[in-house]
Amino acid sequence: MTFRIMTVVGARPQFIKAAVVSHELQGRGAFEEELVHTGQHYDHNMSQAFFDELDIPEPAVNLGIAGGSHAEMTARMLVALEGELLSRKPDMLLLYGDTNSTLAGALAAAKLHVPICHVEAGARTRSMTNPEEINRICTDHVAGLLLACTEANLANLAAEGLSARSSFVGDPMYDAFLQYSAKARKPVLESIVDGSELAVPQSFYYATCHREENTADDGVLVGLLEALASLDLPVIYPVHPRNRAHVAELARSGSYANILLCQPVGYLESVWLVNHAEQVLTDSGGLQREAFFAGVKCTTLLDFEVWPETMVGNRNLLASPTIDSISSAMTAPQEVDLSYTPFGDGRASARIADAIERYLEG
Ligand code: UD1
Ligand code: UDP
Repeated sequence: MTFRIMTVVGARPQFIKAAVVSHELQGRGAFEEELVHTGQHYDHNMSQAFFDELDIPEPAVNLGIAGGSHAEMTARMLVALEGELLSRKPDMLLLYGDTNSTLAGALAAAKLHVPICHVEAGARTRSMTNPEEINRICTDHVAGLLLACTEANLANLAAEGLSARSSFVGDPMYDAFLQYSAKARKPVLESIVDGSELAVPQSFYYATCHREENTADDGVLVGLLEALASLDLPVIYPVHPRNRAHVAELARSGSYANILLCQPVGYLESVWLVNHAEQVLTDSGGLQREAFFAGVKCTTLLDFEVWPETMVGNRNLLASPTIDSISSAMTAPQEVDLSYTPFGDGRASARIADAIERYLEG
C-alpha cells in the first residue's frame, strides 16, 4: 500500500527539514510525497538555492503567496491550500515548524478532516506576543500526529493534554547538520551595501537576526548594530531580506565597519560558518541549535527561550540588543558536555517516516 503525503513548505528552515525527511520518505516504497511551496520565501538565495544544493524534490506547485500582514498572508495561503488538498487528496498533510505556511496548512487540513503530522511539535516560548507561538499552539492542537524534537517539547505537549498523539523523534535539523557538515563550504560573501565581495576573516563571529521582535523597532535594530560593531572580532552577518534595504541604509550612514553585512548564504555555507565561528549571535531557532550541535557558544538576541536544552552550561545565553547585555552573555564561560544529546541521535527523519507509516496503517 502506498500512502500519499502532501508536504507544505514555504520558509528557509522548512526546506532544510524537508530535505532530510523527503529523502527518507523517497527511500521507502510506502510513500508518494508531493511538496507544495506556499511561496512565503521567494528570493533565489532564500528558496531555490536550498532545493538545488540539498537536492530537495521540486515542489508540485508554488503558490506564490508572500508578504502582507500576518492575516493577509495566512488567509491567502489558507484558501489556496484548501484547493490543493481538495485536488491532491492526500492521506496525510505533513507540516514543519511554526511559520504562517504551517498554520495555514493546519487550518485548511483540519477543516477538511485530512490527518496532520506536525514535525517540531511542542516547542514553546510562552510568549503570546511572539507570532510563531500562536502558529505552534494552533497547529499542535489540530494535528493528529505530533512529533517532538526533544523530551522537553514532549513534556510541553503533555502539559496541554496532547500526550496520546505525541512522541519524541529527535530533531531533523540535527540529522541535516550531521549529514551535510562534511559537504559544508566556505562562503563567498556579497556585501548588501555595495555588492562587493567581502573576504571571510580568519577569526569571526557569526550573526543573524530576523525576528519581528528585533526588526520592527528602529531603536532595537540600531542598538544591535552598535553592539555588534563594538565586538573584538569581525562579525559575519548575512542579512535577512525582511530588513535588508533598511540595514544597508543604516550602514551607509553609520559606522559599522566591523560588521560584514552580506546577502544570505546557502545552507552548506551557513553550516561552515557555524563550525568555524568563535561564537554565534542570533535570534534564529535553527541557528541556536546548530551552534549547540557544533559546540560553539551562542548568544540569543531575544528575551525568551525557545530551546532550553541549548542553555545548559552557559552554552546559549539570552541577551537584549545592547552592548552591556551582549558582552556579559559572550564573556560567560561555557561548559560543553558532548555526551548530552537532547536532539536525538541523527535519525529523526527515519523515526518520522516510521511514525507516519504506523499512524496511516491505523
Ligand atoms: C518567517 C517565519 C519565521 C521563520 C522565518 C525563517 C512567520 C510568521 N515567520 O519569518 O518563523 O523563522 O520565516 O526565515 O511565518 N521577504 C523577501 N524575500 C524572501 C522572503 C521574505 O523579500 O525571500 C520579505 C517579505 O516580503 C516579507 C518579509 O521579508 O515582507 C518578511 O517575510 P516573512 O516570510 O513574512 O517573515 P520572516 O521574517 O521570513
Ligand atoms: N541559514 C542559511 N543562510 C543564512 C542564514 C541562516 O542557510 O544566511 C540557515 C541556518 O544555518 C539554519 C536556518 O537557516 O539552518 C535557520 O533559518 P532561519 O533563521 O531563517 O529560521 P528559524 O530557524 O529561526 O525559524
